[in-house]
Amino acid sequence: MCSSAAPCAVIIGMMGAGKTRVGREVAHLMDIPFVDADIAIEHQIGMTIPEFFEQFGEPEFRRIEADVIEHTLATHPGVFSLGGGAPMTERVQQLLETYKAQGGKVLYLMAAPEEAMERARRGGGRPMLNGDADARWMALYEQRDPVFRQVANVLVSTHGLTPTIAAKKVQHMI
Ligand code: S3P
Repeated sequence: MCSSAAPCAVIIGMMGAGKTRVGREVAHLMDIPFVDADIAIEHQIGMTIPEFFEQFGEPEFRRIEADVIEHTLATHPGVFSLGGGAPMTERVQQLLETYKAQGGKVLYLMAAPEEAMERARRGGGRPMLNGDADARWMALYEQRDPVFRQVANVLVSTHGLTPTIAAKKVQHMI
């Protein structure tokens, strides 16, 4: 399914790490398709993610998120950026295991924590950061970082890099 002739990669990482921005640039550089899971989910649910959380809650969001990921992995070649919390469920972890077994790269985009935290706070629209956004981000980072390291088969540090330089670095690793 994935090969050097038809590269494909899933990008995971914390909120604010730049998964969407870098993923889009990588796909552009390599002239391959790009899908962002959050955008695909919003398209499917017909509302914003914060509105969905408010009305239906996180467990229902995770169910739809996993459905969208399963469908996209099965149908879409190229670069696919996931929402920050997606790799935390067993169902998505299993999907990513299968993807890796088929030659796919699961790439953990590791931004400097202070940079990603600030970007996530300033960007807004993230229900998982409701309340004290920095404290919530840090608590999630501590929970998620070890899981991301296990789930990924490629780790890329983007500390201090512009999105364009980060994309070039990623390009050479997938
Ligand atoms: C979430 C991250 C968001 C989005 C949703 C939940 C999380 O995506 O999927 O708000 O649990 O970390 P980004 O990582 O693109 O902000």
